[in-house]
This record gives sequence, structure tokens and C-alpha cells, in this order.
Amino acid sequence: MPVDTIHWEGDRPGFARIIDQTLLPTELKILDLKTVDDMFDAIKRLAVRGAPAIGVAAGYGVLLGIQGHANGSADDVFGRTKETCAWLARARPTAVNLFWALERMAARAARDYGAKKNGREIVDGLFDEAHTIWREDREICRKIGAVGADLLKDGDTVLTHCNAGALATADYGTALAPIYVARDQGKTLRVFADETRPLLQGARLTAWELHEAKIDVTLITDNMAGRVMFEGKIDAVFVGADRIAKNGDTANKIGTYSVAVLAREHGIPFYVCAPLSTFDTKIAHGDEIPIEERGADEITQGFGKRTAPLGVKVYNPAFDVTPARFIRGIITEVGIIERPNTARVEEALRRGGRL
Ligand code: MRU
Repeated sequence: MPVDTIHWEGDRPGFARIIDQTLLPTELKILDLKTVDDMFDAIKRLAVRGAPAIGVAAGYGVLLGIQGHANGSADDVFGRTKETCAWLARARPTAVNLFWALERMAARAARDYGAKKNGREIVDGLFDEAHTIWREDREICRKIGAVGADLLKDGDTVLTHCNAGALATADYGTALAPIYVARDQGKTLRVFADETRPLLQGARLTAWELHEAKIDVTLITDNMAGRVMFEGKIDAVFVGADRIAKNGDTANKIGTYSVAVLAREHGIPFYVCAPLSTFDTKIAHGDEIPIEERGADEITQGFGKRTAPLGVKVYNPAFDVTPARFIRGIITEVGIIERPNTARVEEALRRGGRL
């Protein structure tokens, strides 16, 4: 494992231990989150981020909210579970894994409550569910890695945007998993990492974790992606996803759409790597995906240095949507959805038990 992004520490009462990703790459600080508000705050300020990691964090956030109530009645525990889920759902709007994990936790509590279990047994079930989400995420990363690694030849160079690596999941990541698995298979690969304005997840996180893992990584600013493609340096683009509509339209970090358009122009295959939990089975098209807007100061004085005039108008959407027609394939734990459309996505979701 390159890094330990998030895990549960101790038994009960226990706490969630995360890497504070706001401080990387200059400081590797471990944070112990002991209350549901600690978890809410960590998700909101991106101390833990990346769609699958946010899903794991949501499960653990529910545990933090209910673990002190195991001696309460079934009504008490069930009511608190619903309240905790409703609160955590307000932390961030775009990554659907947050809502997927909270719905899964709430459904588990509802099932056990309906089966007339007592408060302690409902809490037991929630611990089991949250740990299962974490364990499954690890297994899924490896599966995505294995599927994606088959697309990579020894000597290939991959361009990626934002961070969809180990820091965004509980294991090898999604877009970076094929790189790690290919490396484990003995292939030598190179990665170009877009720095990913404005919060620099590419520079601060992707460059850091690949460098730590001794994988050949070259950092570029976002506006250099076209140039390196034009120079013939890129064999494939691998990115992650925050929410995928049923037709394959994919929301990911702002700037992903531009990379996809550039890749199309240069004949470079553009792949999205994501677990089935990142598909929103309730929406047909990407234009239904809620896009998080963040504060102006991320653009006007990122990391403390003012780089724009005081009072200038700013627009700061944190994600964009890449239409399915730009996507060569979506690499999931059940295989590749080639040239995604509604029928192919639904077929994969059915195979993975999500429809
Ligand atoms: O705002 P962030 O850092 O949470 O955005 C993360 C991304 O856009 C990732 O590419 C996405 O969540 C996939 S992570 C495997």
C-alpha cells in the first residue's frame, strides 16, 4: 500500500484515522476524527477527499454519530442514524459515493430495526456495514487496477488529472490503480500529472503519492496538457469520477472536460476509472449532476498569496461533466464499459448488482 488514507482505529468506542490532505506535500499529518462533526468538517474542507474515500468516510462518520448510543433503545439508535446520515449528506454535493454510502448505512439500520433488533444489535450491524464498505473499496481498487493494467504496455505514458489515487480511496485508487498494478506486474510506466487548479490535487497529492511510490511522474500545469499531447508524449488518459449518469456522462474535477476534448483531438484514448458506487442510478444525463461551487479565495489567493485584484468577480465550479461521447471506456470492477451509453452502463450495473 502506498499510503493509509483512512481506516477505523480501535474497536468500540473507536475513531477514524485519516491523513490530513490539506497539508500535503509539505506535512504528512495524521488526524484522529472522534465525533461526527470532526468527520463532517474533514469532508467539507477536503482533509479527506476523492469520491470513494468520501464514501468510506461517510460510513465511519455514521459510526462516530451512533457508537455512544449502543445502550439506547432501537428507536433511539434508528432515529440517530437517520439524523446523522442527513447531517453528513450536507458536507459536499457532487461525489455520489457520499450519498451511496449513507443510503447503505441507513438501509442497514432500517433492515435491522424492521427485524426488531435492539439498539446494540443495530449498532453492531452499522459497524459491520461501515467496515464492509472500507474492505470492498480496497478490493474494488485492485480489480479496477487489474482491468486497467491490461490496457497498458511496458513503456507507456499516462496523463491524469486531479488525484484519483491511493489518497482518494482506501487502497490503490481508481485512475492510478492500473499504474500501480502494472508496476507490480513489472511494467515501466510514466505519468504526467496535471497540477489541477485551483486546489492543486495533482501537484500536491498525485505527484506526492507517485513520487513516494517511486513511479516516474512529471508535473505539468493544466494549460500544458495540449502541448504534451501535441508532442506525442501521451499514450492514454486515465481519470477518476465523482458521479456518472446512466448514459455515461461523467463528473470529475474541474478541467477534466478540457482534457477529454484535447484527447479526442489528438486521437488519445480517454478512460474513466470508477467503482460502480460512483454511478448515480437515479439520473439519466450528466446535466442533472449537482456541481459544487467553492469560495472565491481559492482562486484569488490560493494558498495564501493574493494573485487577483481585490473585489474581482470570481466563478469557481469544482467539477465539470465530460459527455459520454468523449469517453473510450469506463473501467470498473466488473470490466470495461466500452464507449459508454445507457444500455451498456445499465448492463454493467445489473452485472454488479446495482440495478
Ligand atoms: O474535490 P476533490 O479533491 O474531492 O475531487 C476529487 C476528484 O475529482 C477525483 O478525481 C474523483 O473524486 C475520483 S477519486 C478516485
